[in-house]
Amino acid sequence: MTTRILSIFGTRPEAIKMAPLVHLLSREADIESIVCVTGQHRAMLDQVLSIFEITPTVDLSVMTENQSLNGLAGRMLSALDDVLVEHAPDRVLVHGDTTTATTAAMAAFHRRIPVAHVEAGLRTGDLASPWPEEMNRRVIDVISDLMFAPTPSARDKLQAESLSGRIVVTGNTVIDALRVIAQKIEADPALRARLDAALPTLDPALPVLLVTGHRRENFGDGFEQICGALHDLARTNRIQIVYPVHLNPQVQEPVNAILGDAPNVHLIPPLDYLSFVRLMQRAAIILTDSGGIQEEAPSLGKPVLVMREVTERSEAVEAGTVRLVGTNRKAIRNGVLSCLERLAMADPAAASATFDINPYGDGHACERIAGVLAGRDVHEFEPMPVKARGNVSPLFRAIA
Ligand code: UD1
Ligand code: UDP
Repeated sequence: MTTRILSIFGTRPEAIKMAPLVHLLSREADIESIVCVTGQHRAMLDQVLSIFEITPTVDLSVMTENQSLNGLAGRMLSALDDVLVEHAPDRVLVHGDTTTATTAAMAAFHRRIPVAHVEAGLRTGDLASPWPEEMNRRVIDVISDLMFAPTPSARDKLQAESLSGRIVVTGNTVIDALRVIAQKIEADPALRARLDAALPTLDPALPVLLVTGHRRENFGDGFEQICGALHDLARTNRIQIVYPVHLNPQVQEPVNAILGDAPNVHLIPPLDYLSFVRLMQRAAIILTDSGGIQEEAPSLGKPVLVMREVTERSEAVEAGTVRLVGTNRKAIRNGVLSCLERLAMADPAAASATFDINPYGDGHACERIAGVLAGRDVHEFEPMPVKARGNVSPLFRAIA
């Protein structure tokens, strides 16, 4: 009997992390895979759909300029109800912690349709950070009868909450996506050259600091501190900054106002995933408040400084690939400068090395998820214990 699975997503990170999974599901003989995008993001979502060649069955196009969370949730809840009635899925699949994922889970719950949650069990324990995502994750896991935990630590957090759903440890699907894209770049020198040519002209003598930032809890003072730190760093003439700026007006305004004319700073539009992976490969240090980038960095051998007070991705901190620097101007500036000094002392051979041991996944998360959804037995993801990871990039010691 065929199971009809409706995958619902709407933002850049959800699309990147669901793309390899929807491709696999479409090849399952006993699954009918339907894709609905809410369009919570427009340009940033379309970039991902195009790179991964996904044509959604339904596109709700709900995004408005500077949207409020309630306005967005209201529009989606009502539109998704119509989609559920029309397509009558046996199961809804959501990802992560966005307003799209939470609203989709709630809409399915109201229609008594089972929900499976990809990337279940991430927790900081602080409802204020990340906001509103910490609440979103918890609500989705309460609703879900099937929870795909990326890591054993996420599984443990779910077990501690005594939820009713089944938990399967799969690894994070972002590693599957990253591998596909990194292999594409690796295999094609002409593509590499095209991607490099489209990036701003970079000074070969200066290390690249790649920056991304968009968290709502950092709006206002947090962003002023972050931009102040970047301004200080740029003025040292020891580093060049490349910052693909998130399209949210709450981000665009302070970033353009404070850094628009700064030397050694390239403010650019959000990059498609191919170009962004290439830029991560070329960066010396990544400074970010993103969740996904913390998971990708170990595979790329890049030290990541995270502009948050707490992270739900504690595995990377334990493995030494990520260090939290918070959102204070001085702390960010000093964190980057000290990382830069340590990098200058590191073995140059390390700079070109890539390392494939990642606590977040082994590139087979989607196979496990598709297997469970198709009713097969699967071997759960078991990351290598931290102590056994002798070949963690020496570059990570730069942030130890
Ligand atoms: C959302 C998610 C966050 C995720 C982030 C990834 C929620 C509550 N937040 O936050 O978990 O980490 O996406 O980027 O779901 N905009 C555009 N074009 C785009 C995308 C955004 O113009 O392609 C602008 C619009 O003005 C939009 C605004 O950004 O109203 C905010 O977008 P929204 O999805 O509400 O919030 P994010 O901060 O992106
Ligand atoms: N990313 C991208 N282009 C960019 C910035 C980020 O493709 O200009 C990718 C990044 O590699 C990661 C994902 O987007 O896979 C993270 O998205 P974001 O930071 O928006 O959301 P979060 O992970 O914090 O939810």
